[in-house]
Amino acid sequence: MRWLLPVVLLGLTACPGFGSENTSVLAEVPERPTYREIAQITANYCIRCHNRSNPQGEFDGDTYETLFERRIDARDLVDAGIMPPLTDPPMSPVDRESFLKWVEIGAPPADTSE
Ligand code: HEC
Repeated sequence: MRWLLPVVLLGLTACPGFGSENTSVLAEVPERPTYREIAQITANYCIRCHNRSNPQGEFDGDTYETLFERRIDARDLVDAGIMPPLTDPPMSPVDRESFLKWVEIGAPPADTSE
């Protein structure tokens, strides 16, 4: 069975009435997450501190290639709750699990088979 693209709740992150606890990029953990979903997650939680012009910890999360290179470090830090740092909003459980699952299944690129 073909997996469905999760409903993206990006719009909600901009809504002030929506408590940060409930804010999630993805509505549910995809059966097989690809970079298409993960890029939205890193954009929301990581890119502020990890981009080409400001790669803190020498980690640039801007592209699939640079994220793929550091995916094991990223996985370990997210798994341990070290990234994102406590100064930033925590990842929603769905986003966190989606990120960990993506690395677990080999960090596939964006699915372009549509
Ligand atoms: C508020 C800023 C901030 C955010 C947001 C943030 N990081 Fe970091 N990150 C840092 C800093 C600062 C370091 C460098 C820490 C050090 O060198 O001790 C770092 C280091 C790293 C490293 C490199 C660690 C190493 O061992 O070299 C990885 C990988 C990483 N972060 C992943 C992530 C991921 C994945 C996210 C999002 C889920 C994220 N970070 C969100 C600030 C941030």
